[in-house]
Amino acid sequence: MNTWNHGPVEDYAELNRASWDERAPAHAASPDYAVERFASDPAHLSEVVRFDLPLLGDIGGLRGVHLQCHIGTDTVSLARLGADMTGLDFSAASLAQARRIASLAGADVRFVEAEVYDAAGALGPEPFDLVYTGIGALCWLPDIARWARVVAGLLRPGGRLFIREGHPMLWALDDARPDRLLAVEYPYFERDEPMVFDEGGTYVETDVAFTHNRTHEWNHGLGEIVTALMTAGMDLTGLVEHGSVPWEALPGQMERIGGGEWRLADRPWRLPHTYTLQAVRRP
Ligand SMILES: C[S@@+](CC[C@H](N)C(=O)[O-])C[C@H]1O[C@@H](n2cnc3c(N)ncnc32)[C@H](O)[C@@H]1O
Repeated sequence: MNTWNHGPVEDYAELNRASWDERAPAHAASPDYAVERFASDPAHLSEVVRFDLPLLGDIGGLRGVHLQCHIGTDTVSLARLGADMTGLDFSAASLAQARRIASLAGADVRFVEAEVYDAAGALGPEPFDLVYTGIGALCWLPDIARWARVVAGLLRPGGRLFIREGHPMLWALDDARPDRLLAVEYPYFERDEPMVFDEGGTYVETDVAFTHNRTHEWNHGLGEIVTALMTAGMDLTGLVEHGSVPWEALPGQMERIGGGEWRLADRPWRLPHTYTLQAVRRP
């Protein structure tokens, strides 16, 4: 079960990185990430990117960066769609897996180790046409306005942000209610204080037992995300809320609906599960 408190911010980046470093090899070995399919099928795309396709459109020839790319399965998929991709993450162990997966997929992808707030310095001055991120990325960042400035700073004028992310309403729910009530337990709005969790396990199937389980996380309201991007010089071009999520976000309360997606088993229309937001940098 989750525990959380309003304690002072420890070194959140160090704590969170230790958790991700430990989980990366287990994720790469899990059937849920289906890494071997990138080797066996040259046309294979991650289910996350496959879900994105109708809104993503043609990204052939775009210079793209995937922020918080983890083990790179989505980054490699975007490269397979013809984008010239770079992945960025602060977890060296995640990037080691990402490089291995890109190599077995035969994909030419560059991976850069950096804190997302330092992305501009780490990636160099050449601007990008596309920033892609999401699926469990924003919850690790304390300050959404600062993130939005990073995104805008990476893009050329007219360049596009594409993010599909867990909905902040979903993140605000108690995910461990045996009575299956949808109960708002965690902050919807961004707060200075992190939510501090001590939680073994992970979001994919694995037998590995983890020891680095303490994490700091933050929620950001949908309006806060949109406002942060607009203030940073971006124009909103799309915002679609979805009735499914690509992991079992409320364990025991969700059912698989195919394509790697999950939704509430009981009256799923009560809840926005994820959203896809697109924005372009103003000229
Ligand atoms: C849930 S994963 C992203 C998942 C990805 N969409 C996928 O399914 O593979 C979150 C990633 O964010 C990275 N991360 C968390 N905080 C970060 C930060 N401050 N700077 C850079 N990367 C960070 C973690 O290392 C992890 O790889």
